[in-house]
Formats: sequence, structure tokens, C-alpha cells
Amino acid sequence: MNLKTSYLGFTLSSPFVASASPMTGKIDKLRALEDAGAAAVVLPSVFEEQLRQEQEAMDRLLTNSADSLAEAQSFFPEADLYERNSDRSLELVRQAREALDIPVIASLNGISPEGWTQFARDLAGAGAQAIELNLYHVGCAPEISGADLEHQHLDVVRAVREAVDLPLAVKLSPWFSSLAHFANQLQSAGADALVLFNRFYQPDLDPETLTAGKTLQLSDSTDLLLPLSWIAILRPQLQAQLAHTGGVHTPEDAVKALMAGADVVMTTAALLKNGPQHLQTLRDGLIEWMQTHDYASLDQLRSSMSREKLPNPAIFERLNYMKLLKTAEW
Ligand SMILES: Cc1cc2nc3c(=O)[nH]c(=O)nc-3n(C[C@H](O)[C@H](O)[C@H](O)COP(=O)(O)O)c2cc1C
Repeated sequence: MNLKTSYLGFTLSSPFVASASPMTGKIDKLRALEDAGAAAVVLPSVFEEQLRQEQEAMDRLLTNSADSLAEAQSFFPEADLYERNSDRSLELVRQAREALDIPVIASLNGISPEGWTQFARDLAGAGAQAIELNLYHVGCAPEISGADLEHQHLDVVRAVREAVDLPLAVKLSPWFSSLAHFANQLQSAGADALVLFNRFYQPDLDPETLTAGKTLQLSDSTDLLLPLSWIAILRPQLQAQLAHTGGVHTPEDAVKALMAGADVVMTTAALLKNGPQHLQTLRDGLIEWMQTHDYASLDQLRSSMSREKLPNPAIFERLNYMKLLKTAEW
């Protein structure tokens, strides 16, 4: 079965991409992902905050060095005085390119349209073949409107678009008041693909210690439905490619994502739970499903259940909500 897929200008051997996680941050794991059938990998994000802090620390160091470390500086080159996390990220890109034949996508994560976006150039220089820009934001400030935030996000996309010539994917949140409109604007700002969606990790409250703690629960297949709906809705109205991320654990999950209209299917939690070889299970399972259901190619399957192809497209809208509540039995 030919699973060849085009994404961000690359011809991939299948639609399965390993999304950003600690697993894509180690060379041995990246090799294992490729061996198990990953068609591309997204490296862990480099965060705006991290780049900003490093720049501030470097500025402080150099200012102080000018006075008190003048002698030391004459012995040590500046770069040796402070090893930056971002250097490690660039090194990971270089090593991943050396170790892998599949496309290596670097991830940048931030929301303000400032100097850090230029780091995209460094990622490109290190060999990244595409950039996934993650706009992870929780809008808590009452003085900033949704429209302001959207403008800010678009400015970031434009800044990265201007910084590099590489294919650009934008990973975004589902929580926009008019996602269809915003998706179009992201496309106009230069996004070649949209990655739906960021998964938000809300802190849990501990009533005993009166503290809020970290909670990171891995997804399961029930997390599939939100990106699935939006991919089905957006597919007919966007030229940009669409990547499904969230809740893909079984071959059937992947079939649904592709039928909704996803160009590629990304997975993280299933790989963290089952190991890189789970990609082989997903790939074999997809082929088996297609053969059993007489699908000759991925093209025949892909987008076959996007919104405009369904006999009842209103199922994605208010009508579904009304019907669901009326027919629900408890
Ligand atoms: C431990 C962990 C680390 C992650 N790190 C990143 C990251 O650095 N950048 C990013 O864009 N997404 C990151 N993600 C999100 C995943 O790439 C993915 O979008 C999300 O887990 C939903 O997909 P899944 O249901 O297949 O896990 C991370 C997820 C997990 C569980």
C-alpha cells in the first residue's frame, strides 16, 4: 500500500510524524523513531522565555566582564563563558540531520513579535528543514482583547516568515472565537500548514497544601475529537496543509484524522506510553484497515469525511448540539 504523503514540501513515506516531546530530544530515540516508521520528526520546542533569559544573562555577563573580568576575557573566548541551552538545541538539530534521513522540523515556541523570532535563522543555519511555530498562550489579561491577541500572534508568524525561507507550520490553540477566520489569517501571514491543536495542561489545586501543582496527563483517544472536528471544518476552506495532533493512539484514530482531512497525523502520548515501535503498529494497522475496507490509496481516503463531503455538514454546528441534547438518554 502506497502511503506517500506530501507535507511542508517533503514527500514523506507515510502520514505518521512524531510530534515534539522529550522523545524527539535524544538522538538514540530519534533513530528508533525513524526505524519504527516515523516519516518526519518535530524536535522539542525552543521557548521564547529561554531565549530571552539567555540574552539577558549574556548581556549581564558581558557588561560585568568589561570591568571585572577583563583579564579573564583575554584568556577565554566569550562563548566559553556561558554555555546556552539554545546552543544545545542547535546541536540537536545538527546531530538529528546527521543521524536521520527523514525531515527534521525544529519547533519555536512563543507569542511576542520580538527579537527572539530571529532564532529561526539559527535553526535554519543548523540544518532544520522546516519550522513549527507554537503559539501557546493563555490569555489572562483583561485589558488585552481577543483581536489584540490575534494581531500579536499574526505578527509573530510574519516575523518568523520573514526570518527564514523554510516551510512554516503553525501550532495553535483551539480557543479562538472565530477559528475559521483566524486560520485564514495565519495562512495569509505565511503559514504553510496548521498543526491542530496545542494541548493545554491546567495546574491542579491541592486543597491540603493550598498550592497549585504541575499535572501532565497524557492524552487518550477521547482527545481526538476536538482536532478531528476542526480539521473536518477547515479542510474545505483552506489551502494550507493540516496536521492532526491530539489523541492519536490507534490505527482507527489515524484513519479518522485522515478522513477528516489531515495531511499528516502526529503522535506523542502513544509513543511515550508504548515506545517508538508503536509507529509500526499504527502504520501496519492503517494499511490493514485500508485493505479490509477496499481503499486503494491514501488519496481516496484522505478528506473523504471533511465537512463538505458529509451528507449532514451541519453536524459540526449548532444543530448537532441541539439534536444531541434532545436525543440523549440518561
Ligand atoms: C511530555 C511532553 C512534552 C511536550 N513537549 C512539546 C514541545 O516541546 N513543543 C510542542 O509543541 N509540543 C510539545 N508537546 C505536545 C505534543 O507535541 C502533542 O502536540 C500533544 O501531546 C498532543 O498529542 P498526543 O495526544 O499525541 O500526545 C509535548 C507533550 C508532552 C506529553
